Amino acid sequence: MPNDQDAGPTTPGAASTDAGRLWGGRFSTGPDEAAWQLGVSTAFDRQLWRQDLAGSQAHAGELRRIGVLDDDEHAQMVAALDRCAELFLADDFPFLPSDEDVHGAIERWLVEDLGPLGGKLRAGRSRNDQIASDLRLWCRDACDELVELVGALQQAFVDQAETHLGWLAPGYTHLQRGQPVLLSHHLLAYVWMLDRDAGRLRDARARLDASVLASGALAGQTLGLDPQAYADALGFDRVIENSMDAVASRDFALEVLAACAILAVTISRLGEEIVLWATAEFGFARVGDAFSTGSSIMPQKRNPDVAELVRGKAGRVVGDLVSLLTTVKALPLTYDRDLQEDKEPVFDAVNTLRLVLPAITGTVASLTFDQERLAAAAVGGFALATDLAEELVRRGVPFREAHEVVGEVVRLAESKGVDLDGLDPEDLAAAHPALDPSVAELLDPRAAVDRRDGVNGTATSSVAAQLERAREAAARNTTP
Ligand code: ARG
Repeated sequence: MPNDQDAGPTTPGAASTDAGRLWGGRFSTGPDEAAWQLGVSTAFDRQLWRQDLAGSQAHAGELRRIGVLDDDEHAQMVAALDRCAELFLADDFPFLPSDEDVHGAIERWLVEDLGPLGGKLRAGRSRNDQIASDLRLWCRDACDELVELVGALQQAFVDQAETHLGWLAPGYTHLQRGQPVLLSHHLLAYVWMLDRDAGRLRDARARLDASVLASGALAGQTLGLDPQAYADALGFDRVIENSMDAVASRDFALEVLAACAILAVTISRLGEEIVLWATAEFGFARVGDAFSTGSSIMPQKRNPDVAELVRGKAGRVVGDLVSLLTTVKALPLTYDRDLQEDKEPVFDAVNTLRLVLPAITGTVASLTFDQERLAAAAVGGFALATDLAEELVRRGVPFREAHEVVGEVVRLAESKGVDLDGLDPEDLAAAHPALDPSVAELLDPRAAVDRRDGVNGTATSSVAAQLERAREAAARNTTP
């Protein structure tokens, strides 16, 4: 990505030059070098060049409308801003060590390019409303992009669920085998978790879609700029109601970060499951070669590094959320310079997910499942004990008693080293008269799965219908 590399250390003495400074008239000296180094933000806020230039184009239009720029000046300004965008696109924008931030750098360049005309663009705006606008625009695009990436991951699950429809798998609670399910039912659970993750990104996007330009430093401006014109030019849904809120608030960024953190945690849980499935102990799935790595010393190793990395990355995304929450928590209205710390966590969280989502999508698509091992695990561990207890309920036994009776049956089977279907009919009848030989047919895992035919159940018919709904959910996110 252009212009997001580290700007590197600024050269000594940068603070004493004022080429790029937007302020300084009221001071007798330039800033101290250490103070300057602390405040300079071009290394990271250069990522906002697109949004900043879009805001400046809108502003130039308003300055023409109110007569601060005449038509010719406006045309020159628009052309200069276009040239500036081309420089950024080519990764060729000439940042100087004396540029404090992306806004200052662009204004300095405009003045170099246009002469005094370049200095007209600052009228009626402040970096406080500029940065809030830039970050909102950046977050808006980021939400759209992440929703699409989530949709692609959902699609990978839908495809796997479709391919393996009908395969049995063990369902767990406490990581102990609980009840048999369809593998597809397990896979589709992630489609719905991810759908809520996408929904949170959409919600955050809808709430942040308000224009803040023409708020000035905090109180609005005196030139007659029309806030709605900026909303229209930048495609915002509406204008923010209050100029102080406009420059002070970062809850929009917190919401994006919260949505990112929860999404990262969903993916982390998935990563953990893939790690487990790929062990010799589980042996349920194999990760494709392209998403596995070897060991530098153990030639036989096949490690699920991608699944581990996405699990690990969740830590930093959660950290990004906590970082900004902590920055904002005690700030008085309106703008405080602490807010400059908003950008790096947001960029980091989004950029991390930009890496994570395609990698985990490829990993999920690459999984090959072991039907035999899954089926064998689906029947083990007395997984149909609940079915037996519920049959007793159907035969009039209170569940409390049925639970107790089947518990004893399990204990007996365990002592004999068999599963429930390995017990003699006499053993069952001795445990409870209602456990007659007809219960044997209950102890088939496929029948057990297909009995669970509620709309959200694991029966083959239910899962087939769920698969269609999951496909639609994935499509809603992949097609903007
Ligand atoms: N670089 C600043 C930020 O990221 C821009 C706003 C600076 N405003 C100010 N009054 N110093 O928040």
